[in-house]
Amino acid sequence: MADNRKWNASDIPDQTGRTAVVTGANSGLGIATVEALAGAGAHVVLAVRDVGRGEAAAATVKGSVEVRRLDLADLASVREFAAGWQGRLDLLVNNAGVMNVPESSTKDGFETQFGTNHLGHFALTNLLLPHITDRVVTVSSGAHKMPGSPRINFANLNLTGEYAPITAYSQSKLANLLFTLELQSRLAEAGSSVRALAAHPGWASTGLQGHDASALRRVLMKVGNRFIAQDNKAGALPTLYAAVQDLPGASYVGPDGFGEMRGAPALVGRSAAASDPVSALRLWTASEELTGVTFPEPVAVGA
Ligand SMILES: NC(=O)c1ccc[n+]([C@@H]2O[C@H](COP(=O)([O-])OP(=O)(O)OC[C@H]3O[C@@H](n4cnc5c(N)ncnc54)[C@H](OP(=O)(O)O)[C@@H]3O)[C@@H](O)[C@H]2O)c1
Repeated sequence: MADNRKWNASDIPDQTGRTAVVTGANSGLGIATVEALAGAGAHVVLAVRDVGRGEAAAATVKGSVEVRRLDLADLASVREFAAGWQGRLDLLVNNAGVMNVPESSTKDGFETQFGTNHLGHFALTNLLLPHITDRVVTVSSGAHKMPGSPRINFANLNLTGEYAPITAYSQSKLANLLFTLELQSRLAEAGSSVRALAAHPGWASTGLQGHDASALRRVLMKVGNRFIAQDNKAGALPTLYAAVQDLPGASYVGPDGFGEMRGAPALVGRSAAASDPVSALRLWTASEELTGVTFPEPVAVGA
């Protein structure tokens, strides 16, 4: 850009002819991501667990969109979504997520935050990979480096008997970054031009904070949503930047101001735990065993 204006959705290059899938697309950052991509000419599939909510959200978007059912907390649904995919997919945005929810399990018996935020997207990505031609963007969080829980609990991934909502969320968001690291490494090794990148929105006022297991945290976050958070459109900019800018694989994009809570998209740092290739490989192996989904060989080499 010739001026000092910060990058925003109007800088997204023409997306005509490109197809994108956005998970958790019916609200918050997901719908803002859909609006921006469809507004730039892409055909966007809203992958949602509730088709009614998805259709209502899609009706608010100008451009080419469609709604398909995807419940990331149910591997059968993930498999069904992927099996129904035909043709090329330029961009997969792994956006859906739940945060700090009370202890519960997915259909397949995984702790809900790890199962939805990480394992569901792990399976979806690998199943769709033979179709993907450009990139995979996974939405992580500054919470991946939450004090006191900056690691993957490999001995007890479901945190059985030691569940704490914040620890589980932090683990799932660290998993998003380790997944991106290992996916990028595998793609590069396979000679693919497909890139894996990650993003985080800073703090964005969305529905995410409303499901917290703690009533006190819900109140505090409501205040934060009012006075600190950016809106969902600004919060989606790091995802969009990662989706369309020419960045190296495994890049991590977040807001550039106020402790990475607000601002324009920029490359940001990650914790040491999120940069550890040994943990990334160990998590990948565990995720393959848990989901029964593996990295496809041979993988698409990109368009
Ligand atoms: N907002 C923030 O400040 C913030 C900060 C850091 C990271 N993030 C990340 O940003 C992403 C988007 O969150 P958001 O802030 O936009 O929150 P949101 O408004 O609550 O959106 C989350 C979306 O995920 C969907 N979802 C939840 N469980 C699902 C499942 N099992 N299968 C399919 N979809 C599912 C939700 O669908 P329903 O409507 O059906 O529930 C919803 O559409 C998440 O990954 C979150 O961790 C957000």
